[in-house]
Amino acid sequence: MFEIGQEEIDAVAQVINSRQLFRYRGGEDGQATACETRLKEIFGCSEAIVMTSGTAALICGLTGLGIGPGDEVIVPAYTWLASAGAVLSVGAIPVLADVDETLTLDPAAFEDRIGPRTKAVIPVHMAGRPANMGPIMDIAKKHGLAVLEDSCQAIGGSYKGQRLGTIGDAGALSFNMFKIISCGEGGALLTSNRKVFERALYYHDMGCTFREHTLTEEPFLGNTFRMNEILSAVLHVQLGRLDGILARLRERRQWTIAAVENKNTKLRVAPSSDHEGDCGVQTSFIFSSAKERELVAERAAELGCNTASPINHGMHVHTNWKVLLEKKGALHPAMNPFLREENRDCRMDITPDTCTRTLDLLARSATLGTNIAATREECEERAAKLCQAAGEILG
Ligand SMILES: Cc1ncc(COP(=O)(O)O)c(C=O)c1O
Repeated sequence: MFEIGQEEIDAVAQVINSRQLFRYRGGEDGQATACETRLKEIFGCSEAIVMTSGTAALICGLTGLGIGPGDEVIVPAYTWLASAGAVLSVGAIPVLADVDETLTLDPAAFEDRIGPRTKAVIPVHMAGRPANMGPIMDIAKKHGLAVLEDSCQAIGGSYKGQRLGTIGDAGALSFNMFKIISCGEGGALLTSNRKVFERALYYHDMGCTFREHTLTEEPFLGNTFRMNEILSAVLHVQLGRLDGILARLRERRQWTIAAVENKNTKLRVAPSSDHEGDCGVQTSFIFSSAKERELVAERAAELGCNTASPINHGMHVHTNWKVLLEKKGALHPAMNPFLREENRDCRMDITPDTCTRTLDLLARSATLGTNIAATREECEERAAKLCQAAGEILG
């Protein structure tokens, strides 16, 4: 989260004073609904549902798309565990595919991994970077696959002018504490497909046949992922801040890139499928070996410029997904997608040796997080230190 303040405090106080903390029973036109209206305006989609988390939004998206046992869903090997976990939650099997130098799903690797059981793909817009949605959509269309965008880490970013999360059949956002805007915990599903919307609405509210919705899809039981009015009040203010936050992040990322390019060292800014659409939460660099990256990072740190490497990104790296590697997809064996009869013909080949190209790219990449409050001089100073380290190590 980049900014929060008095406006959020006032909005929460108003909800508490109203004694209307639940979104229904009088709160129908309250904060949760206001967030959905705002999301539809910002993203230009016809439907939006706010809910308890990004994971919930992914699960509802997959449910909306009709994904279940017997299906495989392609997921990039560099993402937060929840992208793959959501697939298991609906009884299907995640199949990992490599990322490319943009650290998002490699379209060629995606196409390569499509098999007879593949029903959908989840491109993940990692750390604000847009996945290469043009070719991904073309391939998905060619093979008749559904596309659920995981935009949890890239709220408001865009690809060729279109907001991330609205290019595929549906998109998931997360508003947890570490995201571009936040209400502590929360999520949203975006779609312009009425069928996906209605099914997701049922699923997120235990079937919700008892509410006053006008729905045409057959009802079914689901889960309880409803958003409450307090968090919605925070989120509504945060949504108003979104474009301002993005503009400042992007400006600082651009200052950093320009400063690096001006120095003309061997330091290479990682490619992007859309530099302008990138949310600007970090700047990524790519080296020819992990050793080179380590040496430059070490020297840069001595000079006062700290970088991070995605290979150390914990649960974003599939080799750390212990429960998944051990095929523990659910507590009860009969509910475990890895053991289900319907999934017998699905590929269950996730091991630490899967997607070694991704692991190599992560180890060769370094990132500089964007400080939204930094001045231009501070951005340039940090870039200069990294360039100095690169100059000393890479020549
Ligand atoms: C790429 C990605 N997908 C999904 C999620 C899940 O979001 P949440 O924590 O809101 O459930 C996250 C959260 O960190 C994420 O980074």
